[in-house]
Amino acid sequence: MVKISPSILSANFACLQSELKKVEGAEWIHIDVMDGRFVPSITIGPLVVKALRKITQQVLDVHLMIEHPEKHVAAFAEAGADIIVVHAEACKDLGAVLEQIKGLGCKAGVSIKPGTDVSEIEHVLHMADVVLVMTVEPGFGGQKFMPHALSKVTKLKEIALQKNLSFEVEVDGGINKDNCAAVAGAGADVLVAGSAIFYSQDPAAMLRTIREKADASA
Ligand code: DX5
Ligand code: ZN
Repeated sequence: MVKISPSILSANFACLQSELKKVEGAEWIHIDVMDGRFVPSITIGPLVVKALRKITQQVLDVHLMIEHPEKHVAAFAEAGADIIVVHAEACKDLGAVLEQIKGLGCKAGVSIKPGTDVSEIEHVLHMADVVLVMTVEPGFGGQKFMPHALSKVTKLKEIALQKNLSFEVEVDGGINKDNCAAVAGAGADVLVAGSAIFYSQDPAAMLRTIREKADASA
């Protein structure tokens, strides 16, 4: 079964508790952390993760789009993150950062932007619990899905099979009810969706629709 990780970037920040209630059918909650340096926007930090930790048992999937993530992973772990994902493009020593995250008791993830090839992270795949493939340029919600990035999902699943690795492949950016089947069909284990879910009239129903369509082609 495909997991869904609704991105709260498109939720109403004035009432996150009731927004989370709408997506309680999701296994994971995706939290987009942006620093105004690695990406142009600034979003949220560990304090919000800490607040969310108090109101949900769902897996907190923290996507760090920040420079020098090694300086901040401890704060996110302490705040209650379950999974901490860092960008390959932001790390000088990616293996060391993944080790650091695991040492903090969290699952470790690595993310690649649309222009970054799988070969850039092949050396750390044995250490990763999650590999997050971006299907938009990181920085904003509500962008258009880039289908070409799906070949990376297929490639990652091939490598996992060949090398007997157990990381989950998460796909993030522009996912909606019309393309989720293709994403799941390419082999994705986890689908992030922000605007498609939170901007819909009925987020809980949209979550179910995306899940059903994805499961049908997984
Ligand atoms: C983009 C973020 C995504 C994004 C997803 O930088 O990492 O998680 O918010 O939102 P949608 O589904 O609207 O593309
Ligand atoms: Zn994200």
